[in-house]
Amino acid sequence: MSLETTCNEFARVLQGVKARKRYFFFRTIDPAATPHVFRHGQEHIMLGSNNYLGLANHPKVVEAAINALREYGTGVCSSRILTGTTSLHTRLERKLAEFKGMEDSIVFTTGFMTMMGTVTALTGPDDVIISDEMNHASIIDGCRLSKAETRVFRHRDLAHLEEVLAGCHPEVQKLVVTDGVFSMRGSIADLPGIKELTDRYDATLMVDDAHGTGVLGETGRGTLEHFGMEGEVDLICGTFSKTFGAVGGFTAANREVVDYLRHNSRPFLFSASSPPSVMASVLASLEIIEQEPERLIRLRRNTDFLKNGLIDLGFDVMDTLTPIIPILIGDDERTFQIVGQLEELGVITNAVVPPAVPAEASLIRVSVMADLSRSDLVKALELFEMVGRKVLVS
Ligand SMILES: Cc1ncc(COP(=O)(O)O)c(C=O)c1O
Repeated sequence: MSLETTCNEFARVLQGVKARKRYFFFRTIDPAATPHVFRHGQEHIMLGSNNYLGLANHPKVVEAAINALREYGTGVCSSRILTGTTSLHTRLERKLAEFKGMEDSIVFTTGFMTMMGTVTALTGPDDVIISDEMNHASIIDGCRLSKAETRVFRHRDLAHLEEVLAGCHPEVQKLVVTDGVFSMRGSIADLPGIKELTDRYDATLMVDDAHGTGVLGETGRGTLEHFGMEGEVDLICGTFSKTFGAVGGFTAANREVVDYLRHNSRPFLFSASSPPSVMASVLASLEIIEQEPERLIRLRRNTDFLKNGLIDLGFDVMDTLTPIIPILIGDDERTFQIVGQLEELGVITNAVVPPAVPAEASLIRVSVMADLSRSDLVKALELFEMVGRKVLVS
């Protein structure tokens, strides 16, 4: 098919979806990451933001960004390796390494680049990458770009992971990659089990903790803290676009690995450095996570309240243990209907349909924030009940 035909065909399908009012992407929402947002002038409760601890709008975080903007301007106009490394970048890398209990860390300009740039830099044609089937697209694309062979194991299936590991030549370098928290379902990887296998089969273990960081563990240090395994994996990655309320990402590892990435990861080397204001805001966010533990308590309280409320209403929230609450609907049409009707009534959620999830496993992705009030959650549950009855029961 020619490029023109492909695009025209796509445009036709898109037009049809929009005409049927089944299109819930690229919605303009202002301000976007606060408990209450505006869309077409109507106030909505936001249940679709990953600003879990409310740090994107925390006065100290905003102030830190403004101060850095005044001092450094809007950008550094260079890659990190040339003239784009400020003392804020290096301070943040040290702080993140400390936060994750690792020797060093490297900051990338986006989370996507972090995963893709870490996987591709560390693997070559003689290696094997072993990846959970539900891993994020940034890992999948890292596998595709890498010259290594990729083998996929069934989601959280340790027996299958072992079968794949056992099937690799003992001498081959193996990189096992898993999300810490799976972004669509909120489920947590069985890291103790995976670690036992990577030790036994002499494989390197990389964890993408985009959604665990700031959320799981006694002090919000992430999935490894949740399991009491800090410092026990080879590479731990994260993003700044969730709990930290900004944009960017990092990989923490031992000094040699991080130095290798600094000199070999192409998305790091050949793309511009993050604005210093972003570095300053993430530094401030890290401080607040330590200084204001009540935010994490509120997040957990809100998550439990909403999740239990949804379960009581009869919704299937799958196996989530995190502020990502998936509501399994199954078919796309009813998923879109519920998301659309909730939006009309003043609640923003996200429709997740294939290819983000397997066929017939479409879901409504609800994410919880610490700053949502009890009355926001009560109102949202009332609307879920009303819309659920209309769409699913009638
Ligand atoms: C598990 C996971 N990894 C990586 C990313 C990419 O991060 P970012 O959106 O910050 O580029 C995301 C973001 O959606 C994610 O959920």
